[in-house]
Amino acid sequence: MMAAPLSDPDRKRRFVRDKFAAVAHRYDLLNSVLSLSIDRSWRRITAAEVAALPEGPILDLCAGTLPLAVEIARQRPAGRVFAVDFCPDMLLQGMKGSGYQARRGEIFPVCGDGEELPFPDGIFQGITIAFGIRNLSRTEKGLEEMGRVLVSGGKLAILEFSRPRVPVLGPFYMFYLHKVLPHIGGILSGDRSAYSYLASSIQGFYAPEVLAGMMASAGFTEVRHRPLTLGIVTLYTGLKGS
Ligand SMILES: C[S@@+](CC[C@H](N)C(=O)[O-])C[C@H]1O[C@@H](n2cnc3c(N)ncnc32)[C@H](O)[C@@H]1O
Repeated sequence: MMAAPLSDPDRKRRFVRDKFAAVAHRYDLLNSVLSLSIDRSWRRITAAEVAALPEGPILDLCAGTLPLAVEIARQRPAGRVFAVDFCPDMLLQGMKGSGYQARRGEIFPVCGDGEELPFPDGIFQGITIAFGIRNLSRTEKGLEEMGRVLVSGGKLAILEFSRPRVPVLGPFYMFYLHKVLPHIGGILSGDRSAYSYLASSIQGFYAPEVLAGMMASAGFTEVRHRPLTLGIVTLYTGLKGS
């Protein structure tokens, strides 16, 4: 049922955009409920990776309802954060929030595709992407685009779900992922299939070493990855090589 829409990049793009449009109104609530609000600390750690970079704009890709863009703006006062997402409903939902409203002079939402970024080469000091790279139709193309728009030496920070490596946790996590998460997600958002997709996309995503290797192949140097919260998520960083 899930495989068909995701086998072709264009169909995956449409499928993903439609699913996020369907859950946009409940996205923030569900994030808090399903992660017990730990997601906020993951974004704080990710924002800190780019907050102290030299002056210049930051790109938050797959920005959704803007939680990471708001956190970056909070940690990098008077900076500029361009927040790109291809689902207007997600951006519009985020623009209603108090976090964006308090920093609207610093955050610039842009409706655009992460695989064809609407920016010239070499203009961003840093790029973040939280829970977005798994949703791209073509991971390599997305990484290539991120490298293109970064300044030389600029930093990429990717936050993404991974599968916990603590053996005893595995079965519980799989039960949570495939049973609890679609059930609660379905009740609260009205779209159970969006949360079944979340579960299968996490299970089917690259292992951290593989994604780190893809970053290196895309031209990033000093690529590192570290697990957070027992490896439920992984934070990847790399610098654009010159
Ligand atoms: C799981 S949400 C993450 C939102 C936010 N970064 C956060 O931390 O909560 C993933 C977002 O990626 C967006 N997205 C997926 N593929 C995209 C693409 N090719 N270009 C731009 N946005 C994309 C979706 O519309 C969705 O808003």
